[in-house]
Amino acid sequence: ATSALVDTFGRVAHDLRISVTEKCSLRCTYCMPAEGLPSIPKADLLTAAEIARLVGLAGRELGIREVRFTGGEPLTRADLVQIVALSSAAAPGMPMSMTTNGIGLDKVAPALVAAGLGRVNISIDTIDREHFARLTRRDRLPAVFAGIDGAVRAGMGPIKLNAVLMRETLEDAPDLLGWAIERGLRLRFIEQMPLDADAAWRRANMVPAAELVEVLSRRFTLVEAGREDPSAPAEEWTVDGGPATVGIIASVTRSFCGACDRTRITAEGTVRSCLFGDDETDLRALLRSGAGDAEIADRWRAAMWGKQAGHGIADPGFVPPERSMGAIGG
Ligand code: GTP
Ligand code: 5AD
Ligand code: SF4
Repeated sequence: ATSALVDTFGRVAHDLRISVTEKCSLRCTYCMPAEGLPSIPKADLLTAAEIARLVGLAGRELGIREVRFTGGEPLTRADLVQIVALSSAAAPGMPMSMTTNGIGLDKVAPALVAAGLGRVNISIDTIDREHFARLTRRDRLPAVFAGIDGAVRAGMGPIKLNAVLMRETLEDAPDLLGWAIERGLRLRFIEQMPLDADAAWRRANMVPAAELVEVLSRRFTLVEAGREDPSAPAEEWTVDGGPATVGIIASVTRSFCGACDRTRITAEGTVRSCLFGDDETDLRALLRSGAGDAEIADRWRAAMWGKQAGHGIADPGFVPPERSMGAIGG
């Protein structure tokens, strides 16, 4: 019988995010150290079959309704198509999506669609090539454009774009929005959270959603339209009367932790109940010791029961998590 992933605050996790690698083709300053993250020995990563088993049991026994593959950059994993195909087979009908930087997506998008991947969210913080290169420490904007085009051609959709709000690129925001609207892509801006590897994040330097609205309002007329559903991180705004919209994920200034419906699995197979909760529960050892689905599901439920109330970024004693975003999986 299905018994959901609930916590002591009464929240129920329906949304599973699985990181498949910590490797990435970019080095965004808000997410990774310049030298990249220490590479995980291959034997420590969950295999495609192990990931698929977790997806299957999460759908059957834990009430999971949607699965998103994250990283690191999922496209750096050579067996990504197999991960999606096996997961699809293990959980027929389960909506599956991916969050990616888009580099190389043009080449595999058709295979990913055929394997069962429905949607992608692609990260693109600016369409200014120099600013992009500085922020990501790699001059790869043309490859990201190619990836976005490839996703469109492969019929993935609706495609969303994610842009983390940074001081260095704030003035580029109206151009990015105009560009996205012309292409029918759904752009969301995201407040930067303290998940960089260098612990350089400061509340005072962060660009708050309200400031973005001011900058965008110089060129566009924005009207607040609310959330698509109560647990969606983004609040939508109509642009120039619609139908175009822009989303704002105000994780810091308008935290949505009270409605959180997420559970996470790291690339090494631990359950992480919250982005900001360093207390992780190992499922890989269970998977590899021949445990049955019921036992794995019980361990997962126990891990989620202890989920913290929220990120606590505004609390006086706040300490950022040990893992940076790249090591958790957006
Ligand atoms: P959709 O199903 O397309 O709405 O996906 P999503 O927005 O949940 O996923 P995506 O990976 O595109 O996440 C966008 C951004 O939302 C991430 O970059 C994070 O900054 C933020 N985000 C996602 N999940 C969480 C979360 O659990 N907590 C917080 N605080 N922010 C999150
Ligand atoms: N704060 C907010 N969002 C972040 N992302 C990465 N690091 C951060 C951060 N510190 C975003 C990426 C991508 C998603 C996986 O997470 O831009 O869209
Ligand atoms: Fe959920 Fe934690 Fe993210 Fe808040 S910070 S939305 S509780 S995962």
